[in-house]
Amino acid sequence: MSPREIRIIGDPVLRKPATEVTELTGALARLADDMVATMYEAPGLGLAAPQVGVQKRFFVYDLGEGPGTIVNPTIRESDGEWLFEEGCLSVPGLSWEILRPKTIHLVGIDLNGNDVSIEADELEARLFQHELDHLDGVLLVDHLDEGQARDARRALRELALSGSSSTRSAPNGGLRLL
Ligand code: NI
Repeated sequence: MSPREIRIIGDPVLRKPATEVTELTGALARLADDMVATMYEAPGLGLAAPQVGVQKRFFVYDLGEGPGTIVNPTIRESDGEWLFEEGCLSVPGLSWEILRPKTIHLVGIDLNGNDVSIEADELEARLFQHELDHLDGVLLVDHLDEGQARDARRALRELALSGSSSTRSAPNGGLRLL
């Protein structure tokens, strides 16, 4: 397992919709291993393939019960509302309170091709929605209200000026990044 470089906002790969995984290969499993290593090193709770420059529909995550990989995920149902301060490994040093559905039903397959069906709530539901966004080329800055978006534009200009190489160590408090 070797960590890969995490792509940062401004990189066009983060803005392109990823394509369905059509074959569960050894290469894909090795990439997932590398992504888990990358996620742990960052550290973060989840990481989607486009964040390491791969336009395939899968993500890895670990909410404290060991790493999981979900391939070709879709959200079947979502319900409720939940406000949560969301941060992203690809948007270093920044976070915003974002309202999203509180519970979701996520389906997909794992790396062995087994069906996955998860009724997720709160943080787990948030993580899945955030990673699914990555697969659609959507970033958390797309979910901001007007006031948040104004602050975000200023912060992102400063981020761009500081250069992405120095942003890896940007402080994020105790925030768990998605
Ligand atoms: Ni993210």
